[in-house]
Amino acid sequence: MWARLLGTFNVLSCGPVYWELYCIIMWARLLGTLYTCIYFSLYFSIDILRMKFVSLKTFIRLFHNKDEKECTTRSLISNAMVRTGTKLRPLKQYMEDRNISKETIQTLCENINARDEYLTRFYNLSLKIQPEMLHIHDVSIRPMKNKEMNNNQHIVFKNIIRNIHMFDILQHTKSGIDNVPTFFDMLFDLYLNNIIDYKLLTPSATHYIKNGRIGSVFSSYYFRASIMNPYLVYSLNQSVLHGRRIFSPTLGWSSYCYGFLESPNVVEYVGTDVIPSVCKKTKELAEIYTPSKKVDIYCKPSEDLYKDDSFMKKYKHHFDTVFFSPPYYELELYKSSNQSTDKYKTYESWLIEYWDETMKLCYSVLEKHGTLCYILSGYGSQNSHKYDLLTDMNNITKKYFRLMSTQPMYNKNVHVTTHRETGEQIMIFIKKANAVLLK
Ligand SMILES: C[S@@+](CC[C@H](N)C(=O)[O-])C[C@H]1O[C@@H](n2cnc3c(N)ncnc32)[C@H](O)[C@@H]1O
Repeated sequence: MWARLLGTFNVLSCGPVYWELYCIIMWARLLGTLYTCIYFSLYFSIDILRMKFVSLKTFIRLFHNKDEKECTTRSLISNAMVRTGTKLRPLKQYMEDRNISKETIQTLCENINARDEYLTRFYNLSLKIQPEMLHIHDVSIRPMKNKEMNNNQHIVFKNIIRNIHMFDILQHTKSGIDNVPTFFDMLFDLYLNNIIDYKLLTPSATHYIKNGRIGSVFSSYYFRASIMNPYLVYSLNQSVLHGRRIFSPTLGWSSYCYGFLESPNVVEYVGTDVIPSVCKKTKELAEIYTPSKKVDIYCKPSEDLYKDDSFMKKYKHHFDTVFFSPPYYELELYKSSNQSTDKYKTYESWLIEYWDETMKLCYSVLEKHGTLCYILSGYGSQNSHKYDLLTDMNNITKKYFRLMSTQPMYNKNVHVTTHRETGEQIMIFIKKANAVLLK
């Protein structure tokens, strides 16, 4: 720096020609640096934008019919049906039975006509990609600290996940709880099919809709598959796990791959899932996003990989970290063949055939003293369900691993109901030295 300053004084003392020359050179340098910065940031964002993302226009178009007519209170009352579970009843009859006022229907109609406003808000909050916010590690956001892991911190990082797996997350994954339609199924019914879900006509929903909060009603009453924030995965690795070679026995909508690849120390990521589109898109994302890192994606049940000789030959004792969030038994029902809950018909057989075998796989692919971290829902244990995931799954894990720590995964609840609270726990285990594995 001193040499540079001295250089400036020398130039100043050499007269106007040198001074002009000096200015030109400095400008050229500055422009060069600027150009390089712009080039690199554009290069990275354009590169990632090679993925096929859903645009706002495409998204809005999904919710309009070609020969659509404006909704009027009268037309809605005479044509619409009300859905209760699988049953459909004419709205007119439903209004009489439940004493629903015309004003309630009018408000709903106004919202149907103004759907683009809501859809735009939803898109901007939940699906919009911000190219400058794609590289978590580069946007000067610190990783969350140990014991402060919150899945709803910097939710913008979930958008890429929701965008690339939009139909799987918002429509194809069904709730394990009866009569909770998916978010997209309800919206398609309302906007395209003249079918109103009965919950939209309840007094509490009517109250929120009248107060301009139809979005909160949609988000609270209708099901969307849960997703892990890649920022949480990144934070866990940066602050707690410090893994370099990672294996995931489920892909969690590509979130784990994305979060780990953001961690500068991670050199390799290997994962498996059974939803073909999830496997394909995770691979694509990794190839485009971080081509320099080693990534290997399988599309096979994790419990089968344990018996797969070529996989085991390649990866026995290979990884330092295993991370995933398994299916929470029947809380979410994914759409594909080979789903663990379809293959094993009872909870007991699911625990033995899916979970125990997957734990043996994790044990076998981890190096000595390797770390296993998974996120589980305490859902069954807190509600009147007949199964207790936390206790039952952890008991099996403890045959092969020693529990090191447990911490809650926080979720800020922004909804008008609490049914989505699942009390998720982050558990960290260390591989035991001499566990007995039976094939
Ligand atoms: C989406 S994650 C669990 C949800 C979690 N909250 C998350 O996103 O992190 C569950 C995944 O397990 C996958 N899965 C189900 N059965 C499997 C099996 N036998 N082997 C591997 N993956 C399986 C599902 O396809 C699904 O993608």
